[in-house]
Amino acid sequence: MSGIEQARKLAERLAHSTGFGNEHSSEAVPGALPHGRNSPQRAPLGLYAEQLSGSAFTEPRAHNRRSWLYRIRPSAAHPPFVRTDNGALRSAPFTETVPDPNRLRWNPLPEPAPGTDFVAGLWTVGGNGDATQRAGMAIHLYNANASMTDRVFSDADGELLIVPERGGLLLRTEFGLLRCEPGHIALIPRGVRFRVELLDESARGYVCENYGQPFQLPDLGPIGANGLANARDFLAPVAAYEDVEGPVEVVNKFCGNLWSATYDHSPLDVVAWHGNLVPYVYDLRRFNVMGTISYDHPDPSIFTVLTSPSDTPGLAGVDFVVFAPRWLVGEDTFRPPYFHRNVMSEYMGLIEGAYDAKAEGFVPGGGSLHNMMSAHGPDRETFDRASAAELKPQKIDDGLAFMFETRWPVTATAQAATADHLQTAYDDVWQGLQRHFRS
Ligand SMILES: [Fe+2]
Repeated sequence: MSGIEQARKLAERLAHSTGFGNEHSSEAVPGALPHGRNSPQRAPLGLYAEQLSGSAFTEPRAHNRRSWLYRIRPSAAHPPFVRTDNGALRSAPFTETVPDPNRLRWNPLPEPAPGTDFVAGLWTVGGNGDATQRAGMAIHLYNANASMTDRVFSDADGELLIVPERGGLLLRTEFGLLRCEPGHIALIPRGVRFRVELLDESARGYVCENYGQPFQLPDLGPIGANGLANARDFLAPVAAYEDVEGPVEVVNKFCGNLWSATYDHSPLDVVAWHGNLVPYVYDLRRFNVMGTISYDHPDPSIFTVLTSPSDTPGLAGVDFVVFAPRWLVGEDTFRPPYFHRNVMSEYMGLIEGAYDAKAEGFVPGGGSLHNMMSAHGPDRETFDRASAAELKPQKIDDGLAFMFETRWPVTATAQAATADHLQTAYDDVWQGLQRHFRS
């Protein structure tokens, strides 16, 4: 059986614990989880007890995230890390280019060299903030054609929101296994070790590296107690451990650089755990879309799946927004997203199909960047079609697009600003918008 077949067979029968932000618990061996205390004098089954803190000890309870891990060896048992090649991975602060007010759009990444795994296949588009200040975000793409073998990755700089566009992923984490297919997202907390195995011949997608406060579900306000991304649809893994002696490379992203250490065992050796700092997967098709049932296109914040708040209420460090299948019924309304200029900066990607404001040129695996105050909106073809359309109820069901929207401008990396797959004529989609004014 090939590695892909093995991984797919495993991925098809995973169990889960459900609910975003819940106090989860799981044990792969009965009796491995202590009860009534976190750190008994001797942890069960000869395991080591270890806390993983994703927030400061003293943060308010609503934002406090930590988990207790019961593992074969403590994480502290490791050799020194040494610097290793960053490849095409870049980090904040982004200073390779000057921030660009122009609208930018890219085609998908070229195919990687044979044997490129998820970490080697990471390619940074740009970002903002400063990883050492735990503020801002980075936009990465990945393009891989090999599973990670004998190595794991962790990111001390931020949590990773992984958005597959092509090919399924089996994520082997310290907390257990998760399956993430195109149309799903995965959320890996800061510092959690994981390995990515491919469920298909190749895997391609997007990653938002969030240096700021961990993603949370947005408040719902007048929407009420339900809707948008429902907490119960977020799947956490159940405990599953590797009892592997032998060399395993641990690649650690720390303050913008990759560091490597070769352990004499797998660090995915957590036999039991409990807590509210856990990785998740979420199926974007479960998103409960809200929209108008009278007129006008609501602001796209209504499509927010997850938000990373900043120190200003309502102003996100980064929002993750999805444009999922939905009905359009607005009367006397220009139904596609409207023309606008935005203090927030928007990176858009496409998981499948087409996006209703762009007739062509925006393809799955590609992306567009509309930086702070850059004017954008429907292209000419979309404007002409939507302005003349008969406004019957209409189902938008041929695409799944998303946005990383951030409070700070995004500065492109040098490789993104000069890439062969950067579209040089993107502005042309707004050329030829006719003058219709009649005084
Ligand atoms: Fe926009």
